[in-house]
Amino acid sequence: MADLRFDNRVVLVTGAGGGLGRAYALFFAARGASVVVNDLGTIKTENGASVRAADRVVEEIVRAGGKAVANYDSVNDGDRIVKQTVDTFGRIDVIINNAGILRDKSLSRMTDADWDLVQEVHVRGSYKVTKAAWDQLRKQKFGRIIMTASAAGIYGNFGQSNYSAAKLALASLSSTLAREGAKYNIHCNCIAPVAASRMTETILPPEILKALKPEYVAGLVGYLTHESTEENGGLFEVGAGYVGKLRWERSEGVVFKADKTFTPGAVGAKWADINDFSRPVYPENITDTDWVGLLERAKELPGNPKGADLRFDGQVAIVT
Ligand code: NAI
Repeated sequence: MADLRFDNRVVLVTGAGGGLGRAYALFFAARGASVVVNDLGTIKTENGASVRAADRVVEEIVRAGGKAVANYDSVNDGDRIVKQTVDTFGRIDVIINNAGILRDKSLSRMTDADWDLVQEVHVRGSYKVTKAAWDQLRKQKFGRIIMTASAAGIYGNFGQSNYSAAKLALASLSSTLAREGAKYNIHCNCIAPVAASRMTETILPPEILKALKPEYVAGLVGYLTHESTEENGGLFEVGAGYVGKLRWERSEGVVFKADKTFTPGAVGAKWADINDFSRPVYPENITDTDWVGLLERAKELPGNPKGADLRFDGQVAIVT
């Protein structure tokens, strides 16, 4: 496949002062795009001075002959970031929602501040940036958006309740925007990357970190955001040169008769069948479940299996 270029395209990368975001910014600039390098962070130079992380990346791009400007706003001020992008370059074509932070703690130690900050940067930040650009993308009848999830969001991970909840929220935000944007040629895909960065340098062993260059994620991001790419609404795990796609798998399931005999005991009696993945289905849309057909099947059932009647004596339940 010919190497894909982004000449005349305007790309906004959030959290691009380091790690994956920096790799994306360099990637797009090297392929002809004008890049807005957003990051609110600072980094320390060798002589101890503090410099804007975004400025460093812009300097790198300009030195290599590329076009880039820095933006220092938080992604929570998405409208300001998008305004600067459009004021500077006249349009916005590609948005890489990449900015992120961690506040890892088990739920017993989690504070509201840890919870709220992680939701705010990942979920609200990606929403604010994308929402601010949405009308412009619709007017242009072109847009390519990336949301950044995480394996922690897909599978869950000990000590990351705030982060995993935020990251899976981004996968579903991406699926919904893929549907809302399709008729305007706005495509939205989601990645769960793995790369050596400030975020992972304390978590992963050094020999693995060496193989996990952020550059090895940029190839997929470039492919998904190119004008020629049809993919929309996908979720991919990517890192160290590996790319895999995810989808939902559901067991064939069990139909119960919806009457008084549909008890916890009846569910328990069919538990092995509910968990049987030998005849899986792969729903892609909210309409992929044939509720009418399932109800018809239920009507034909003589009744539900009788399992042990489950009781909850002595326990206290809260229903919110
Ligand atoms: P990083 O910590 O190296 O880079 C994140 C950047 O976002 C930082 O430069 C930081 O200053 C910036 N940032 C933080 N809050 C911001 C805000 N409110 N507004 C603007 N910029 C902000 O992290 P890394 O590893 O490059 O991660 C990038 C994305 O990939 C994140 O969303 C992260 O959750 C995700 N990710 C990374 C993984 C990895 O293995 N590195 C694994 C799974 C997901």
